[in-house]
Amino acid sequence: MTSKAIILIGGPSKGTRFRPLSLDIPKLLFPVAGKPMIYHHIEACSKVPSMKEILLIGFFKEEQLKDFIQQTSKQLNVPIRYINEEKVLGTAGGLYHFRDIILSSDNPESIFVLHSDVCCSFPLEELQQFHQKYKRHCTIMGTQVAKEYANQYGCLVRDENTAELLHFAEKPETFVSSLINCGVYCFSPSFFDVMGKTMVDLRASNVNINSDYPEITRNRNLETLRLEQDIFVPLAGTGTISVFPYQGFWRQIKNAGSSVYCQELYLNHYAKTKPEILKKGDNIIGNVIIDPSAEVDPTAIIGPDVYIGPNVKVGKGVRIIHSIVLDSTIIKDHACVIYSILGWSSEVGLWTRVEGIPNYTPFLYSQEKRKGITIFGSGAQANGEIIVRNCIVMPHKQLDRSYSNEIIL
Ligand code: GTP
Repeated sequence: MTSKAIILIGGPSKGTRFRPLSLDIPKLLFPVAGKPMIYHHIEACSKVPSMKEILLIGFFKEEQLKDFIQQTSKQLNVPIRYINEEKVLGTAGGLYHFRDIILSSDNPESIFVLHSDVCCSFPLEELQQFHQKYKRHCTIMGTQVAKEYANQYGCLVRDENTAELLHFAEKPETFVSSLINCGVYCFSPSFFDVMGKTMVDLRASNVNINSDYPEITRNRNLETLRLEQDIFVPLAGTGTISVFPYQGFWRQIKNAGSSVYCQELYLNHYAKTKPEILKKGDNIIGNVIIDPSAEVDPTAIIGPDVYIGPNVKVGKGVRIIHSIVLDSTIIKDHACVIYSILGWSSEVGLWTRVEGIPNYTPFLYSQEKRKGITIFGSGAQANGEIIVRNCIVMPHKQLDRSYSNEIIL
């Protein structure tokens, strides 16, 4: 058995929801639980014994990813290659366009495809075994979400006996199913032929409007092809696709704030799978990662669910809960940081409180303006003795009074 993995990483235009943090690095390299967001995907792929190569397909500038790819490839001992789309091809367009590159070496029998903006335990071997058992061209990993949130996602209807995908509806207006698409797939090479045929049909149906597939937008520019709407929707119920029911944690990482919730999920997972990377100590509560180069005063109480990056300085009596503190940030004595992300080289003054109001619902954009993670862009500074609550602070901004529920430009 030989395997390859493809991670669909999109490009910079999609990173706007990660502002102000995407101003410094591409969204997919933003640290979640101490590692760049897609490191978690790559690590899971590297553990599949038959994995030959991991391909990242997207439209970032190559130099933005070069160092990360080199270091990660070395660290995890797996070949990683970036394929630049040059222009946006869509989630299916890129895969299909580069099929010869994907299939040209190592003769892969299984091809994993992962969205970069999801967080889960990536049970790839189980997914592969399931895919082989049901012998269809493609297997989609599905998970259950609460009924009221299901229409935010690609909804799946599957045959409970045969595991076949019977119906796929992308963000339907009315309730279809609480089993949703995780953005993690296993393909056989034959799926590229199926995709090719589906695309020919799609192009034909684009001219002769065919009401069988109402989710497919008619007469749109077909230079981009979407895996969900253009491929899975018409193929559902044709015996082509299986659905693997995944029971573990899953969440989308759609904006900077959601990385705090995803970090919590990964840290819980690490507590079971690699507890040695979590910090222990009298001043530590729950799951915490502290970079060895950070200086944390022993009277500071840290956790649960905190990451403290390299060269951070944390003063006396500081309290940090549910937060991400990035490299070289300074948190002065007696400050308090809760549900927040402090960008690179930012600063929190003496006795200052920086606080977000958590919103654990999986909606991409909360309707509730009074809820959200507080985010400091790089180099932002909060003076002493102020309160910053539920705010987004642009890079290098200096705050000299208290703020709440604001974007501070
Ligand atoms: P939204 O709710 O609108 O964000 O849609 P979604 O959750 O279905 O996500 P989307 O289909 O936009 O993206 C899924 C994954 O594919 C993400 O990791 C994107 O970065 C990636 N992606 C999206 N469009 C493209 C594309 O044109 N090319 C490549 N290579 N990747 C893409």
